[in-house]
Amino acid sequence: MTSPLDLAITHGRRFVEAQSSRSVAPTGTRADMLAPLPAALPATGMDAAAVVDLIARAAEPGLMGNLSGRFFAWVKGGALPAAQATDVMATLWDQNAVLAATSPASAVLEEVAGRLLLEALHLPPTCAYSFTTGCQMSHATALAAARNHVLAKAGWDVEVDGLIGAPPVMVLANAHRHSSVDRALRLLGLGTGCIVPLGGGGTEAGLGKVGVDELVAALASAQGAPTIVILNAGDLNLGACDDFARLVPIAHAAGAWVHVDGAFGLWLNASPRLRHQVAGIERCDSWATDGHKWLNTPYDAGMAITRHGDALKASMRMTASYLTEGGDTRDPMDYTPEWSRRARALPTLAALLELGRDGLADLIERCCDHAASIHDGIAALDGATSIARPVMNQGMIRFHDRAGRNISDAVIAAINASGEAFFSGTLWQGERTMRISVCNWQTNADDVRRTVAAAAQALAALR
Ligand SMILES: Cc1ncc(COP(=O)(O)O)c(C=O)c1O
Repeated sequence: MTSPLDLAITHGRRFVEAQSSRSVAPTGTRADMLAPLPAALPATGMDAAAVVDLIARAAEPGLMGNLSGRFFAWVKGGALPAAQATDVMATLWDQNAVLAATSPASAVLEEVAGRLLLEALHLPPTCAYSFTTGCQMSHATALAAARNHVLAKAGWDVEVDGLIGAPPVMVLANAHRHSSVDRALRLLGLGTGCIVPLGGGGTEAGLGKVGVDELVAALASAQGAPTIVILNAGDLNLGACDDFARLVPIAHAAGAWVHVDGAFGLWLNASPRLRHQVAGIERCDSWATDGHKWLNTPYDAGMAITRHGDALKASMRMTASYLTEGGDTRDPMDYTPEWSRRARALPTLAALLELGRDGLADLIERCCDHAASIHDGIAALDGATSIARPVMNQGMIRFHDRAGRNISDAVIAAINASGEAFFSGTLWQGERTMRISVCNWQTNADDVRRTVAAAAQALAALR
């Protein structure tokens, strides 16, 4: 009889191997997924292998094809073979990567993953790092360190005294920031009311970018108050990157902490050809990014990095009488907001080793080239208008029918329904628009061809 584990691996492998032939979009309804499952908790348990089969059957019609090379919605990477396989091992080993004492292997390998990560991203080797669940929690983690640091400079110990009665913290943030930044500020008790948005209407630096003059003016109005500046490396519509080389020294001269949302854009720094777009990014104080986007690890791979390891430790570290400290080995818990946690750094280590420096640069550059080709191929169709040609891996296109009505959502739905490719939309400058995001190591020229053909067919049918 097949063991539950072998069955699970068979189901998983079947899904992974079918990517080029199965529909990119899910094929079933909510009712299809619920149909095989019991409506209430069974009184007696089921055979383990039967449970695995049942769950695989229930999930099948609702599985999204985000591992496919023709998936371009939101910002989602695929999963490199070594990263995916290592993730499975991490699950099977079931280590608690909280302390060196609870899992020496997890702690030591996380150290190596962190060191290689800093090298890959061309960030200072002395930076502290934290492996989180995703960029959302990386913002919360890095901004907790920022909060500690700017308030300590104002003579306030936020870890002991909290925020009630603390000097107000001002946050100057790119207006095109991802909403996860706002939620991190809410979780940290800073709230969104402290945000002063910059670069909303387009500046001399370009659309989606913070301008030098407005940053200077905003810092002057802060009058030395504890200040955090939040910049973008790749906003999710335009892929716009702030001018770090000019903005960061200005912010630092005013005593501000500079945090970057580099969920995917930070990875440009791994490419000799594209690095110029994020020039100066290594001068920031903290960076939040993801492995599950452009590095192509499976999910659950965020990274928070800061040059102020002392502030990160001060905001995250905790002790208890029953804990054993790691000695020579870094205790992951000192840097993360979690206690028990899986060995989530291991797939990142695997991805970095599988790619190497040159393979990583090639992955980043390839995705950008494919994004431009998909954009150009679709934008050339009758009824399609380019809204943003990719400067990295993100682009936007809008569709109109012959009467001039915006049919972008209908075109997206028709492409997705074809099963050939998958896109998502957004509201850009008041009008519905299709987004293009290419983050997958598997996307190739044939995927680009099939995607443009699917868009051509959908558009022709709707015009
Ligand atoms: C620019 C940007 N920042 C932050 C996030 C949040 O990342 P995560 O979903 O890994 O928490 C995203 C997600 O798409 C993003 O695109």
